[in-house]
This record gives sequence, structure tokens and C-alpha cells, in this order.
Amino acid sequence: MNFKKLSTFSYVPYSGKPQACVIQSVSGHFYPGVRIENISYPLTIGRIQAAVFSCIADGEKPETLILPDEADTGELLSYWETTFGFTTITDADFTFSPKNLVVKISGNIRYDHLLELCKKAVIPNSSFPVAALLQVNDGFIPGVNAETTGWELGLCAERIALSRAISAGYGPSETGNMYIAAPMGDYVSPCGACRQVMMEHIQSQRIHLYQNHTELLSVGCTDLLPYHFSSDELSKKSGKNQQSAFSE
Ligand code: THU
Repeated sequence: MNFKKLSTFSYVPYSGKPQACVIQSVSGHFYPGVRIENISYPLTIGRIQAAVFSCIADGEKPETLILPDEADTGELLSYWETTFGFTTITDADFTFSPKNLVVKISGNIRYDHLLELCKKAVIPNSSFPVAALLQVNDGFIPGVNAETTGWELGLCAERIALSRAISAGYGPSETGNMYIAAPMGDYVSPCGACRQVMMEHIQSQRIHLYQNHTELLSVGCTDLLPYHFSSDELSKKSGKNQQSAFSE
């Protein structure tokens, strides 16, 4: 994999400006991150955020951030460097093999699968683990919630699963249903921000919510967010290589 290819996985229908980076962990694994925009612009996931959280949600420690260029795109680079203690290098020709995060599960998803995944949650602030499994064409992409010192920069399990899948190159036709559990809560349900992000990527899929070893609810993504934010004015700006649920 190289930056030229990785950049094409970016989801940038609103800016048309693909962005990608890679985090190398202390144990030598590579975690790609691409920019994933949202029609509600502040819900955009930055490439560094995507890569760092993919790494730490895998129980790994970031060591080096590899950027294709020195462009400062307002991504709080020094915050990420200081908080996670990595150094940054620039190498446009960098090549790497991304860590394969796909989980193979035979048979139906069970609560146990999600409970096991919860052990990876990075939850210094909340002690409230959440796990999500996103179906892809060859298995499931896992996500857990990951928090950092800045509460507002953390990501929910659902968005980590989605950003990992997109950063791994799974397009809309290769992503499917999502399975979610939050064992510490008396009820599980994706937050509003996750719903808006899900609407953009897995709108036609089903969301399965698990609690106490049973599936509580299976609901269509669209039904989770009636009257969701949308605007033809914004979606008209779609870039040519971008796949948006709103640009069909
Ligand atoms: N959280 C999720 O992972 N998914 C949701 O849908 C709701 C909230 C996480 C975020 C944070 O790490 C913790 O739960 C408490 O808000």
C-alpha cells in the first residue's frame, strides 16, 4: 500500500481534498487513517484521529506518524504527538502493509463476541466500554470506544469501526450491518453523532443492539435518525471519486 492508493479511500465529498496518513505502532504494525467528512462538517473524522484511534483501539501504542506531506491542515498535530508520545515523519513514497483488522466469525454474532471485544475499549475517562462490529464482505471490522485527555476528541465504538473500515478501503457496497453492545449500561443505543455518521455510510443497513446476552433491537439505520440533517446544497459538491449515500 502507498499514499497514492490510500488517499483514494478518503471520503471527501464536501471538500474534494483526500487526505491520508499512517501510524506505526511500537510493535511495528501499520494503522492507516483517511479523512472522513460528514455532511454535518464538525462530525468529520480527521486522518490522524482515524489512524491514532485505530491503533490504540487495537491495544497498541503509536510510535511514528507518517504523513505524505508537511501540509498543516489544522489537525491538532502537536496535540496528538504530545498526548500519545509519537514522532512525525514526512515520506510521500512510504509503502506499508496495513494491519488486517478483519475478524472472522462463523455463524451469528453473539453478545459474547461483543463482550470480548469490549476488553479493548480505551476508557480512562468513563470506564464505560462499548463495542461495535461492522459487517464487511470478508468478515467484521471491530470498533471499541477510545477516549483521550480531550473528551471532545474521543471516538465512539461505532465511529471507530466505520473509520477503520473506510481507511481499509471498504466501499459502500462492501459494508453491511452493525452490531453494538454497551454492557455497563442498562440500555444500548448509538449516540446522535454516530447516527448521523452511520446515515452517511450504512444508511440502508440494519443496526443490531445487544444487551445482557440478548438482541434487544434490530432497527434500520434510517429509522434511528428520522429528520436527519441533509442538504442538496452541500451534497451537490460531491467529489468525483467519492461515494456518498446522499449523492446517489
Ligand atoms: N459511546 C460509544 O462508544 N457509543 C455510543 O453510541 C455512545 C457513547 C462511548 C463514548 C465514551 O467513550 C463513552 O461511551 C461515554 O460517553
